[in-house]
Amino acid sequence: MSIARPLPHDTAQLHVTGAARYVDDIPTPANALHLAFGLSSIACGTIADLDLSDVRAADDVVAVLTADDLPFENDVSPSIHDEPLLSDGTVHYLGQPLFLVVATSHLAARKAARKGMITYEESTPIFTIEDALAANSRFEEGPRIYSRGDPEQAIANAPHLIEGTLELGGQEHFYLESQAAMVMPQENGDVVVHSSTQHPTEIQHKVAHALGIPMHGVRVEMRRMGGGFGGKESQGNALAVACAVAAIKTGRTCKMRYDRDDDMIITGKRHDFRITYRVGVDDQGRVQGIDFMHYTRGGWAQDLTLPVADRAMLHSDNAYHLPHVRIESHRLKTNTQSATAYRGFGGPQGMVGIERVMDHIAHHLGMDPLAVRQANYYAADGSQSTPYGQTVEDFVLHEMTDQLVESSNYHVRREAIAEWNAANPVLKKGIALTPVKFGISFTLTHLNQAGALVHVYQDGSIQLNHGGTEMGQGLFQKVAQVAASRFGVDMDFVRITATDTGKVPNTSATAASSGSDLNGMAVKIACDTIRARMAEFLAEQHQASPDDIRFQDGNVHVGDNVLTFQQAAALCYQNRIGLSATGFYKTPKLAWDRIKGEGRPFYYFAYGASVTEVVIDTLTGENRILRTDLLQDAGASLNPALDIGQVEGAYVQGAGWLTTEELVWDGKGALRTHAPSTYKIPACSDRPDIFNVALFDNENREDTIYRSKAVGEPPFMLGISALMALSDAVAACGDSYPDLNAPATGERILDAVQKQQGGGDA
Ligand code: MTE
Ligand code: MOS
Repeated sequence: MSIARPLPHDTAQLHVTGAARYVDDIPTPANALHLAFGLSSIACGTIADLDLSDVRAADDVVAVLTADDLPFENDVSPSIHDEPLLSDGTVHYLGQPLFLVVATSHLAARKAARKGMITYEESTPIFTIEDALAANSRFEEGPRIYSRGDPEQAIANAPHLIEGTLELGGQEHFYLESQAAMVMPQENGDVVVHSSTQHPTEIQHKVAHALGIPMHGVRVEMRRMGGGFGGKESQGNALAVACAVAAIKTGRTCKMRYDRDDDMIITGKRHDFRITYRVGVDDQGRVQGIDFMHYTRGGWAQDLTLPVADRAMLHSDNAYHLPHVRIESHRLKTNTQSATAYRGFGGPQGMVGIERVMDHIAHHLGMDPLAVRQANYYAADGSQSTPYGQTVEDFVLHEMTDQLVESSNYHVRREAIAEWNAANPVLKKGIALTPVKFGISFTLTHLNQAGALVHVYQDGSIQLNHGGTEMGQGLFQKVAQVAASRFGVDMDFVRITATDTGKVPNTSATAASSGSDLNGMAVKIACDTIRARMAEFLAEQHQASPDDIRFQDGNVHVGDNVLTFQQAAALCYQNRIGLSATGFYKTPKLAWDRIKGEGRPFYYFAYGASVTEVVIDTLTGENRILRTDLLQDAGASLNPALDIGQVEGAYVQGAGWLTTEELVWDGKGALRTHAPSTYKIPACSDRPDIFNVALFDNENREDTIYRSKAVGEPPFMLGISALMALSDAVAACGDSYPDLNAPATGERILDAVQKQQGGGDA
């Protein structure tokens, strides 16, 4: 069987040799045109005059479009039609597309796009959480509130009260391949779209609306992305729609790609958050009552802010039973890039909130933070439920934590660190173990569906299509392993094809880590339909029962007769057996009321735990991760090699978010960190010197594809242990609780150390 084998990524070799084809590598017709947006240079106001004469006169420019030139809808929003492709006269953020240049080369388009002469009438922008609260600038009328029990009373009755505030920065996706699209006009006004997107159906939908044609006139193809990380759920809409409009207008293929700076300036990022907490705890550090306030900046357009903020609320418990709890969430509208999906989709922000609380409790009571965490863990017996009422049925973190404590030698190292810190005035070390419990399913319940289309050709080769997209995570390989296993053939029988809205319709974004769960099942169902037809026919031919037919080792066993899979396919074809089938899957058991915050939004939870040890230089704030140990529950892993790759990458990306990756806007709303020179993602050299990564052996108790669990996002939150370890190191410099905000850059660490040492205003 191919299932559970640690096979490499199906196109790993193509990636590293440069032969893998991305949107920008697709050969274009000789007369193809290239597009660039002209961007606003203010954050808020209206356009008094848009003089584009120099743009139109620039070399190699074929056309210049403004909102008035668009044929139909001027909207690229994935949610509520509040996101014009080109400004309708109002400016909402610095970097907003105002006009579109169509030229004969990429460079010519970009050069011309800078020649717009724009006069604005500026108004006062809303940048900060304070600005937004003062102006009551929001995406919903008021805050959303989820609660259980009587937190006020429980806090009042508890022996200890702990309060604090945590600031969490956003995060740039920094996919290696920037946003890109290409549209080829067809006969009849139809278009074929190549888009670097996690959501081909959304691209199809937005292009159809922009052109004023039905979805059947738009076919979207996506072979692979050079990374998406949530940044290509909705942010690719603008490029695809721009190309479609220009292609129809000119009758020529149109292509657009953002260069890195434009990509960072135009597109949305992870939501930044401020989280305040009031917690009542008992003498053992157990939470009696807790009150959270979430404030998040959603930027100028709604995009996916509401479900992101919901998911933050839904992960405010992380691994801990909160008997009396209230979470209030404010979704604020600001004159900045429209914040969007990013690995974990709000979950990480919610989780850092409660992890900070655990850390703060431990400091207050003088306990080991791990002991506080374990004292608050959900019960293993399934007797407790989340604040939103979902029973935590398979809480395996007790066992996982024990295993990780043992393998990482946590207690011994913690003591050694205390000794080190006592002896060393300049370099201080810290260590932390943090758990993860992450809910798997889209919280918009109807998105939990998927389709597949499988063909067995008469030579026995198999072509596989499903609605999921490949962004480096290895989805295609995992799903191909499913198909090969169903037919009992080697992997080289299976050809993985580009995602194509013409083959599988009405797909959901490849997101919420559900790619292999949903598409793996849909493919299994399609394969089993074909298999059943083949078995029925072969059984009849050999006077056997279909139950006696086995697909194994590249052969089809019919009682004592053995045919190769190729022979069986040929025979079925000659006897007019249909060898093509669709498959459709929807996740069972979901029932969720997102307004009340009650029900079962998640099919199951994925778990993980991590230990990070760091060292900081108290004179400079410089710091390093010395050692990391990770343990991730991937269920019965479909492919341990790919899953471990996901766990490693996610941890590093999570740690990057909380340590070095800092977004800085100036007073005018210009993003100053719009290139790798100023925005620091982890490099190979930032990876922990000792990096032990393991999967926890644990079949999913729910009936998922081969009992596996989703692994795309959950391990991102293993990176939280890096922040908590830094906080532990800073705590060693004094007596007060270090309210270390994220990202904990060198500057912030130095600042926190100085406060600890009494040099600040703490
Ligand atoms: N891994 C790679 N290499 N590149 C990516 O863009 N995106 C992440 C995760 N892992 C991503 C990745 C995100 S945000 C999600 S939701 C999942 O992959 C999506 O894929 P899956 O559902 O197949 O796990
Ligand atoms: Mo992932 S943020 O759900 O694309």
